[in-house]
Amino acid sequence: MDLITTDAQRKNEIADLFRSTFTESEGVAEGDLIGNLVERMLATVDAADMFVFSAVEGDDLAGTAIFTRMTYPEDERMVFILSPMAVAPGHQGRGVGQKLLTFGLNALRRNGVGVALTYGDINFYSKVGFRQISESVAPPPLSLGYPEGWLGQSLTSRPLDPLKGASTCVDALNDPAIW
Ligand SMILES: CC(C)(COP(=O)(O)OP(=O)(O)OC[C@H]1O[C@@H](n2cnc3c(N)ncnc32)[C@H](O)[C@@H]1OP(=O)(O)O)[C@@H](O)C(=O)NCCC(=O)NCCS
Repeated sequence: MDLITTDAQRKNEIADLFRSTFTESEGVAEGDLIGNLVERMLATVDAADMFVFSAVEGDDLAGTAIFTRMTYPEDERMVFILSPMAVAPGHQGRGVGQKLLTFGLNALRRNGVGVALTYGDINFYSKVGFRQISESVAPPPLSLGYPEGWLGQSLTSRPLDPLKGASTCVDALNDPAIW
């Protein structure tokens, strides 16, 4: 299994991975929502505002994690949000997701990112350093349907003290259906 920063030429393959993984775990409507979201992200987000990391086995895409920039204009820290990520059903439960995120979070650190956020299941994301945070620690860009899923971690030695001001996310994530 190799961990890589993913080439833009694999766009279709990445969108298909998200569509099929979420269709299998959560049904066709969620598969379409996330597949379309990923297509939009890969087509519209500037390279400087996005990191796409993948786990590959030979030519086979086993998993992908997408981080995009969040902006807190009154705070000096650089913030990225992980959303979404998927490990293909045939590769799940074997540590691929955790290895992929450890690789991605280290790459973010090397690029000067100070804070990582995500929105999901604490039982999985706590394995790679995320903890539940309140909306006052990191004001979300849209209102949260599931506030227990709002997670964050500092990527430096500085504690995760509250990020200042209102936030914005990339346009592709600016959709209430995702939050
Ligand atoms: C969630 C997901 C990314 C995890 O990747 P993975 O490679 O299967 O996970 P790993 O094998 O690295 O780690 C799984 C560990 O987390 C635990 N875990 C807790 N909650 C979990 C959850 N909701 N999903 C998967 N694992 C979970 C497992 O018990 C396991 O623990 P262990 O290592 O002590 O045995 C993957 O299962 C997936 O793509 N699922 C469908 C889509 C999805 O839910 N994406 C995330 C939301 S954006």
